[in-house]
Amino acid sequence: MANVTVIGAQWGDEGKGKIVDWLAERADVVVRFQGGHNAGHTLVVSGKTYKLSLLPSGIVRGTLSVIGNGVVFDPWHFRDEVAKLKAQGVEINPDNLHIAETCPLILPIHRDLDGLREDASGAGKIGTTRRGIGPAYEDKVGRRAIRICDLAHLDDLDMQLDRLCAHHDALRAGFGEPPVDRDALKAELAEIADVILPYAKPVWLTLNEARKRGRRILFEGAQGVLLDVDHGTYPFVTSSNTIAGTASSGSGLGPSAAGFVLGIVKAYTTRVGSGPFPSELEDETGQRLGERGHEFGTVTGRKRRCGWFDAVLVRQSAAVSGITGVALTKLDVLDGFDEIKICTGYRIGDQTYDYLPPHPQDQAKVEPIYETIEGWSESTFGARSWAELPAQAIKYIRRVEELIQCPVALVSTSPEREDTILVRDPFAD
Ligand code: GDP
Ligand code: IMO
Ligand code: MG
Repeated sequence: MANVTVIGAQWGDEGKGKIVDWLAERADVVVRFQGGHNAGHTLVVSGKTYKLSLLPSGIVRGTLSVIGNGVVFDPWHFRDEVAKLKAQGVEINPDNLHIAETCPLILPIHRDLDGLREDASGAGKIGTTRRGIGPAYEDKVGRRAIRICDLAHLDDLDMQLDRLCAHHDALRAGFGEPPVDRDALKAELAEIADVILPYAKPVWLTLNEARKRGRRILFEGAQGVLLDVDHGTYPFVTSSNTIAGTASSGSGLGPSAAGFVLGIVKAYTTRVGSGPFPSELEDETGQRLGERGHEFGTVTGRKRRCGWFDAVLVRQSAAVSGITGVALTKLDVLDGFDEIKICTGYRIGDQTYDYLPPHPQDQAKVEPIYETIEGWSESTFGARSWAELPAQAIKYIRRVEELIQCPVALVSTSPEREDTILVRDPFAD
């Protein structure tokens, strides 16, 4: 297995960006294959922080970076993110960044609709990032999307825009909003086309060629398995498949290309946005986890909800996503707790579950069954070898492995790139 597929195994923000950046040293290509700029991936390299939403994390090292067809692409955000990273000294050009010509575009009308729906949803709101992700995927599946390749055929765009606008005008009317200004939208697209088109390539071809030449491909997932539109806590999910299988459909490589599936797992649990969260702690302990872990969203700045590690959910994620091994991140955040709890099952009344039932009402009702483990007082912050870990921390890791039925391949002990312990090299597997 020369390739590695990195995915989040919880509700996102597990530390995928840090691990992808660390692994990118060994990779020839880094590929984003789903989601869009709803993601927020943070990298810290020698004290300097980089925040990426749409660009693959490999770009910071200058590794060939690819945005696959499964990504929904906001061209204006792209322009701004490229400018921001360039200002930080990151080199980005059409040689080291390729974007699939078939990516559907996120347009201002998608952002509008995302916000209008959230505002109208009251208590039932999903708590989206309001970046137009859901509406853009709807138009893709509805066969109405404007894609990057359409930017090279502006003369042919009128009929497509008419169809798209007719659909959105009906939706907007329901919210009391004026119709789409079609000519203004066309003019905006014409203006941004020159920024995007130099990067637009048949990436499926580049990736297949790279694979034939034995190049190492690193797939970078966004969000997490519990936000997957099929396997997550529906309807409180994102609008794409976030599981490892999407690396294939979202890039144009066959399913065997996924290689080692590395699930990124935080040593506790967080969630941003609405939806069930069985092991959530709405008390001082939750607050302590949030403060120690600096749990604020990269994209929206929202406070992340925090709770104990939920082994039931991660075991389920590992199963549905075919996770080969996990990277356990933010272990240092648990330093100094007298006791640490792990959720090992659920209860509703007299009934126990070893998986999360699918109905949102049951998901909201389940009570976690905990086992308690003694904590450790020593610091693991910045540890770079197994030998530096306190015995109790190792016990915790071993218990997590047992419960999720998956081995730990990497441990992360701070935001810094090099504060990472390699247990089993995913590229060598
Ligand atoms: P992603 O969306 O999965 O890439 O994760 P985010 O970047 O949104 O959130 C993870 C946060 O935790 C970022 O601020 C990282 O810098 C930070 N982080 C990653 N790994 C560790 C770790 O092992 N320890 C600590 N303390 N912070 C970490
Ligand atoms: P990374 O890649 C955490 C959540 C939103 C909301 C739901 C739907 O940084 O881990 P959307 O805008 O996608 O329609 O919102 O999904 N969400 C994330 N939560 N990390 C992310 O990405 C997320 N991307 C979306 O908060 O609950
Ligand atoms: Mg994030």
